[in-house]
Amino acid sequence: MTSSTTRHARYGIHSIDHFALEVPSLADAAHFLSAFGLEAQAQPQQLLVRTHGGTHVWARVNEGVRKQLAYLAFNCFADDFEPLREQIIAAGGREASPVAGAPHEGFWFDDPDGNRLQVKPGVKTTLGCKPDASPGSGKRRLRGAYFRAEAPQARPTRLSHVLMFTPDVRRAVAFYESALGLQLSDGSDGIVAFLHARHGSDHHLVAFAQGKTKGWHHSAWDVPTVDDVGIGKMQMQRAGYAKGWGVGRHVLGSNYFHYVRDPWGSFWEYSADIDYVNAGTEWPAGNHPPEDSLYLWGPDVPEYFFENTEERT
Ligand SMILES: [Fe+2]
Repeated sequence: MTSSTTRHARYGIHSIDHFALEVPSLADAAHFLSAFGLEAQAQPQQLLVRTHGGTHVWARVNEGVRKQLAYLAFNCFADDFEPLREQIIAAGGREASPVAGAPHEGFWFDDPDGNRLQVKPGVKTTLGCKPDASPGSGKRRLRGAYFRAEAPQARPTRLSHVLMFTPDVRRAVAFYESALGLQLSDGSDGIVAFLHARHGSDHHLVAFAQGKTKGWHHSAWDVPTVDDVGIGKMQMQRAGYAKGWGVGRHVLGSNYFHYVRDPWGSFWEYSADIDYVNAGTEWPAGNHPPEDSLYLWGPDVPEYFFENTEERT
């Protein structure tokens, strides 16, 4: 895998603003999201997804024939917008029309796989530093664990990252580096790659995995501690969403995880304590053996975790 140090673009986005999915049933999506611990506000033909008590719309879910990404929206600093637009075009980004029903601001284009992307000046949703994610942080309790009757619902606090299938991981990494100024954190030989944002972000903001076609694999939602990851797994099992993978700990990114399979075969990840790359820090990007690209500990990976349900046979 080519080192990110050879391809640092001059400008870069700082955040994901939101992603938009199309799914066949908004009612099924609302049930799933509510069980997951997010707020899904029903609009005509669309759900707006926020964290509990939060104002930022992290995802939009539209009704469509089948599950797929509608678009992915990135935010940049206002001064960087025009240079970024030029940088995207120079990198081969194909200008495209805004998706119907989406806010039409900013610059719309397609990546090499045909994913529709938007870049606009906007709020920096990535954190400024790594928070304390040790169990019990935030509330000093006499006992380390909750009594079960007092255990809170797992509720994500923010979107951490997204992962998409691509038929060409190296091509995707090259484009997101040269067009959007993302930087490679770690990867595994064209099988998987994790990229961060240069202005400070989690170890990965956007990640790619090898697939026969493009496809939406998962979105990851930060919860305060590993307790919330485990409690989230139990609450989703009780709500009828038992399929998934976890609880475990990743190697690349170091986060504790549990992935829940949604009704359309994609995953929503509870993630805690992910590594953070400070602004201006050179992360030692590595090419790692495949066994390190998955997990340090956890249950065996179910076969369906690798399935790209958007592949047309
Ligand atoms: Fe993830």
